[in-house]
Amino acid sequence: MLVPAPDVPLPTAAAIERAKRELDRRLGPSKVAVAADTCALYALDESDVAGRMPDVVVLAESTADVAIALEVADACDVPITPRAAGTGRTGGAVPVAGGIVLATHKLTRVKDIDRRDLLAVVEPGVVTGELQALCEKEGLFYPPDPNSLDSCMLGGNIAENAGGPRAFKYGVTSAYVLGLEACLVGGRVLRTGKRTVKGVTGYDVTSLLVGSEGTLAVFTEATLRLLRAPQEVATVLALFDDVHACAKGVSAVIDAGLVPRCLELLDAATLDAVRAQGVAVDARAHAMLLVEIDGDAEAIHPALERLGNALAECAGVVDIVVAQDEAQRSRLWAARKVLSRATRKLAKHKLSEDVVVPRSRVPELLLRTDRIGDETGVRHLAYGHAGDGNLHVNFLWDDDSERAAVDRAIELLMRATIDLGGTLSGEHGIGVTKQQFLPLEQSAELIDLQRDLKRVFDPKELLNPGKIFPNRSHRAC
Ligand code: MLT
Ligand code: ZN
Repeated sequence: MLVPAPDVPLPTAAAIERAKRELDRRLGPSKVAVAADTCALYALDESDVAGRMPDVVVLAESTADVAIALEVADACDVPITPRAAGTGRTGGAVPVAGGIVLATHKLTRVKDIDRRDLLAVVEPGVVTGELQALCEKEGLFYPPDPNSLDSCMLGGNIAENAGGPRAFKYGVTSAYVLGLEACLVGGRVLRTGKRTVKGVTGYDVTSLLVGSEGTLAVFTEATLRLLRAPQEVATVLALFDDVHACAKGVSAVIDAGLVPRCLELLDAATLDAVRAQGVAVDARAHAMLLVEIDGDAEAIHPALERLGNALAECAGVVDIVVAQDEAQRSRLWAARKVLSRATRKLAKHKLSEDVVVPRSRVPELLLRTDRIGDETGVRHLAYGHAGDGNLHVNFLWDDDSERAAVDRAIELLMRATIDLGGTLSGEHGIGVTKQQFLPLEQSAELIDLQRDLKRVFDPKELLNPGKIFPNRSHRAC
């Protein structure tokens, strides 16, 4: 059952026809698709948001193509929705007003990997995992690692300010974007930011654009900061008899003075989903912490020992496993990486939220989630980046008649998150699915200021309309 598209102004038939003609004339038919079956491929993303079928899809191959599409959209008054791989979870790439979809997945060049200045210059259609592999060959490291890294693209990562398990130590995408080439509605091309590590000239427009969910500009190039690859990485798995003990284990690791690069928690229902994938997990385990540390060879062994001691002292630990080699490490991670898909198999429908609370309040968030499950009768599970306080609470249901209870469960989760001092989204963005909850976290003044900013970039509200901000008729729920 799809989430209905928000109410947004639709283009007129005459405007669409004009835009199609103009795009065809300026870009040529190989870059402009109007066939229904092609357009249908660009109507959805990995959320459950119902889009409107786009009227035309631009398959851009260069900055000039992107700029032309944005110029035509403006001249013809037709909404335009940018899209890279379409792996988003909140409807960010879904064209809720139809019109033009501007696809950037064909801009796939890695233009530079600079070992001396530690940076890469990339186009938006580069798959995140491919950049990481190229960096690795050079002894370099691009840390952001959304779990969809084998298919998601850097353009989308930047638009959503994607995170991933390694954010605990290394931060999210914004920590790595030094500069952007960005095209605005109307066709202006801007370069923001710098190629240097430091730089405070003018407003930090780069930071404003990162995470703007495709509502302010379309990226055609990004300059990304790289690190030297850590010499060693060690992965440890701690199994617990109970999720609450496991959540306390997160603090135990941090209190031991360790800065793991990942601190991931899986609850009992999630572990069952992992078992259902054929991965053997000790039957005594009802929760799991996946911890990874990295660093220089001489630092890693003492850190590993401290980690082992801290975990061994935790109440409720049933086993601690240290990966012995690279093959075992990737087996441990393989189970984590497929979670989103594995949990999808537990029910006909699933929604994965990405709320964040202050790390010390993760145990409370888990308790509140259980209470929400009891109150609404909705099946749920939780896993995710517990070190960041960022949990993927998943709600599962089989029958459409349960949808109202699921909506109630989501609302209660959002309220509980804000109550605990948290934030609605740690990595998936607001998009369509969470816009009605934005007023729970942000004041009307702050939302209005952001709407004003949007109008500076896009006065006619043509670029990715219907995203982030609640419909004006929507009051705080
Ligand atoms: C993850 O951490 O696996 C991804 O953010 C996707 C999700 O599970 O919601
Ligand atoms: Zn995640």
